[in-house]
Amino acid sequence: MNSSHLGLQINAERFRANFDGLLRMRDGARRWFLETAKQAGLETRVDGAGNHSGLLRCGPSGAPVLLLGSHLDSVPHGGRFDGALGVTAALEVLQTVQDHGVPLNTHLEAIDFTDEEGHHVNFVGSLGLTGKLAPEHLQTPRGGRERFQDALRRAGLSEDSLFAAGRSAATLAGYLELHIEQGGLLAQREASIGIVTGIVGIRSFKVRFLGRADHAGTALMEHRLDAAQGASAFTLAVRETVMAEFPGCVATVGNMAFEPGVFNVVPRVVTVSAEFRADTEATLDEIEARLAQQASHAARRFALDLEIQPLDRTAPARMDDRVQEAYARACRTLGLRHTFLASGAGHDAQCLAPVCPTGMIFVPSVGGSSHSAREFTRWRDCVNGANVLLHAALTLTCI
Ligand code: GLV
Ligand code: MN
Ligand code: MN
Repeated sequence: MNSSHLGLQINAERFRANFDGLLRMRDGARRWFLETAKQAGLETRVDGAGNHSGLLRCGPSGAPVLLLGSHLDSVPHGGRFDGALGVTAALEVLQTVQDHGVPLNTHLEAIDFTDEEGHHVNFVGSLGLTGKLAPEHLQTPRGGRERFQDALRRAGLSEDSLFAAGRSAATLAGYLELHIEQGGLLAQREASIGIVTGIVGIRSFKVRFLGRADHAGTALMEHRLDAAQGASAFTLAVRETVMAEFPGCVATVGNMAFEPGVFNVVPRVVTVSAEFRADTEATLDEIEARLAQQASHAARRFALDLEIQPLDRTAPARMDDRVQEAYARACRTLGLRHTFLASGAGHDAQCLAPVCPTGMIFVPSVGGSSHSAREFTRWRDCVNGANVLLHAALTLTCI
């Protein structure tokens, strides 16, 4: 990097105003982002996968783009930082480069990816953009095909447009993402910045236990085909199996849907929604096989039928060494203590990693809480993260 840029800092006041402005607009967050990018003089676009972005043409014509971003969707009752911090920081980095007229050898694009949280199809935006979206990804959306088709229509998208969103790898100089840690390692290690070395793979699935509806008062306990019993036994087995056999891995039953789901009917069907995570495909395969065995065991024990429906599978990814080094150098320049760590949360970066140099940084989450209203990151840490993002981008692209 040109040494005259070593002292460059983001505009913390503008960053804060944008972050707070976004919070006020949470329902219309994506529109807000596009509007703000446009007002900042960026070229805005919405691609066929619904990704929203603002482009700063700061490189030579025909140069590739360095993407910076995250996501503006959230989980139900989620916090204000997960995703939103990375998108507003990306915007701030572009505006800082624009303010100072820094000449780079790439263009910069701030991007808000579609459905990072996998409400319908996990990472559909980043998979679409990288051209890695396959028809199988769309066959089993988490909430079912009908709800997915509806959501596409409402967003003015279609399955065809998702596939058409692919960009060639030659146009992508890389992808950088700032995110909150969502865990407690940074605090434990007294570091301000976490440089991500790799991201876990995630697989999700539904298991349906099928029994028989009966009267809750008259059907004798020993004659029932109670789907709730199979689902409950399976849920306990998921925890026990992963803790005993796969240390360091995680599995979660996030939902159980009972049919008919009333007090006085023995449940006919219970659908369990679950996911598990590990850092290699081999371990993911092993967990998948063991959980399938546990599901059949639970079904047999209560004389139930069983259907297992695998849903999305996201591969684990390693972050690029050169990008990790650029972050470390930025931390040294800014006098910030950093540490290296793996991510147990999923991120769009794992979809970008196979096609371009990709890396992420984390800033501390107070109490390690996330995907909950307790999620909080001190503003000073957010500003530090945005500055590291800026300096890493400059290191990677400065002429
Ligand atoms: C995304 O937040 C995930 O890890 O599920
Ligand atoms: Mn999240
Ligand atoms: Mn996130």
